[in-house]
Amino acid sequence: MSITRGIVLAGGSGSRLYPLTQVASKQLLPVHDKPMIYYPLATLMVAGVREVLLVSTPEDTPRYQALLGDGSRWGISLEYAIQEQPNGIAAALPLAESFIAGDPVCMILGDNIFYGKLGLDRALASFEAGARAFAFPVTDPERYAVVEFADDGTVVSLEEKPIAPRSHDAVPGLYLYDATAVERARTLSPSPRGELEITDLHRSYLADGALVIERVGRGVTWLDTGTPDSLLEASQFIASVERRQGLRIACLEEVAWRNGFIDRAHLAQEIAAMPPSPYRTYLEDLEAGKLE
Ligand code: TTP
Repeated sequence: MSITRGIVLAGGSGSRLYPLTQVASKQLLPVHDKPMIYYPLATLMVAGVREVLLVSTPEDTPRYQALLGDGSRWGISLEYAIQEQPNGIAAALPLAESFIAGDPVCMILGDNIFYGKLGLDRALASFEAGARAFAFPVTDPERYAVVEFADDGTVVSLEEKPIAPRSHDAVPGLYLYDATAVERARTLSPSPRGELEITDLHRSYLADGALVIERVGRGVTWLDTGTPDSLLEASQFIASVERRQGLRIACLEEVAWRNGFIDRAHLAQEIAAMPPSPYRTYLEDLEAGKLE
């Protein structure tokens, strides 16, 4: 059964970015020329997802609603759910139960940025059951969930922030789940740091032989933005690519237009509502057929 719905997580405490996150939610901070949340949202939209649930804190959810509204600007439907405490990524799944409505779902962390041909559209279309995630080689695996593969590509082990990582393959914040994820998340116990860990959810699938992790080729870039250095690096990466190509990454109006979520009249209406800005000029060029 293919996946048509997505969850974006935009809660958490963002403590590693303190004091940047003292009054602003991490996922509202800029990554070069756009709010961070645009990037994961664009990842879902590019893959064809048009029904999205955004999960955030009681304080920040109104800010996301002010920024993104009901999604109709981009031809998508956006709903919101509040996570009262930052008690873990897996804790968001039970909050999404009515949104998921017994179907499989895709979940992306609001501070994860993907650039390149990830093939998420194909993964969503071919999804059948269990859980599916991706793996990227990194130089600092101890910061992430680390997966160890057998020669045939099956998962042997999965460890959260291991002191002695068994590989350099880290699992980024993009997951596909069948509907059992909600019940599985409910049965998890909090970790020593007091969170329902997403890696524990994945281990539950692994124990049932139902976890597939796909190694992503080197043509795709994965960035996370949880620390001051990684946030700066992500901004620099996006700025470099955009300057070089003259094409914007995660411009939601462009994604919506190219994917056929909005028609030309709708795009023109969105542009007309924008203040004069480089962002608006870019979209005017798109509308005028000046971008390839
Ligand atoms: P993390 O980076 O693991 O946690 P954090 O955002 O609270 O930051 P820090 O570790 O610096 O305190 O979170 C990854 C993503 O998941 C991020 O986009 C926020 C989101 N998240 C939630 O939505 N709810 C949660 O309970 C947690 C822990 C994270």
